[in-house]
Amino acid sequence: MLFSKTGGTIELGVGLSWRPEFARDVHKLVGKLDFLEIIVDEWGGHLLTENCERILGKLPTVLHSATCSLGSTYPGDATTAILSSLCDHLEPRWVTEHISYSQAGEYEVNNFLPVRYEDDSAVQLAANTNALSRQLAGRRVALENTCYFFNHPGSEISEKEFLIKLACNKVPIMLDINNLYVNSCNFRYDPMEFIRLIGDACEVAYLHVAGHRESGGWLLDSHDVAVSDVVWDLALEAIKLTSAEGIVIERDHNSASIQEIQCEIERARSVWTEGRQSRETKS
Ligand SMILES: [Fe+2]
Repeated sequence: MLFSKTGGTIELGVGLSWRPEFARDVHKLVGKLDFLEIIVDEWGGHLLTENCERILGKLPTVLHSATCSLGSTYPGDATTAILSSLCDHLEPRWVTEHISYSQAGEYEVNNFLPVRYEDDSAVQLAANTNALSRQLAGRRVALENTCYFFNHPGSEISEKEFLIKLACNKVPIMLDINNLYVNSCNFRYDPMEFIRLIGDACEVAYLHVAGHRESGGWLLDSHDVAVSDVVWDLALEAIKLTSAEGIVIERDHNSASIQEIQCEIERARSVWTEGRQSRETKS
């Protein structure tokens, strides 16, 4: 085991990926959350209003970005200035991005394209990630495993081996349990073996959980339904077996009532508490 799983003095706990739709009922979330994940690319100063900050208090935050395209050979830096100013404002515990690219030269797509799983790509991605960390005054930057629907031609190693290569290059992982489950079904591998390997080899910043649905024989990371039981079960194991400092619920597309969000938060609290107690017992 390379990383402490006792949590040390830093613990995030149960968090929510913040959406402007939640602002109307924000008073119903008082005392239920330990931290918020702020999505950088939707930030305009209006998503987390002063009113929300006043009601929820100054909760710890993490910043989540989707447009740095760190998997590109020459990632753009359009987001860096926004990230930097948000870091000054929010003092986030983590900044997170994706193991993917969305830009290649003058071309840009509105999606997460999978990187080629090979040594050179891991070294390049790690270099870009560590460069971003330096641009953000040394803040910790972790990378999220994404859903993918094809294996990149020329990939020489598996996804989990690629994540371990990133760990060897000092890049922490933000482990999305729903993405892991969706990929494991679409490409037929054992998600528990994946969690065990990552837990042993990688520093895990925190976890994402979200909903998925089936379409045309594929599972899709739709984020528009409740988190499934199997994803909660895997999240519990990940809390036990990795260094994750917290768990974040992702619910997008304006599809959830505040009651549904409250239920998801309660479930996350229960899973987090059980997983952390198990981790403490083993340490
Ligand atoms: Fe995610």
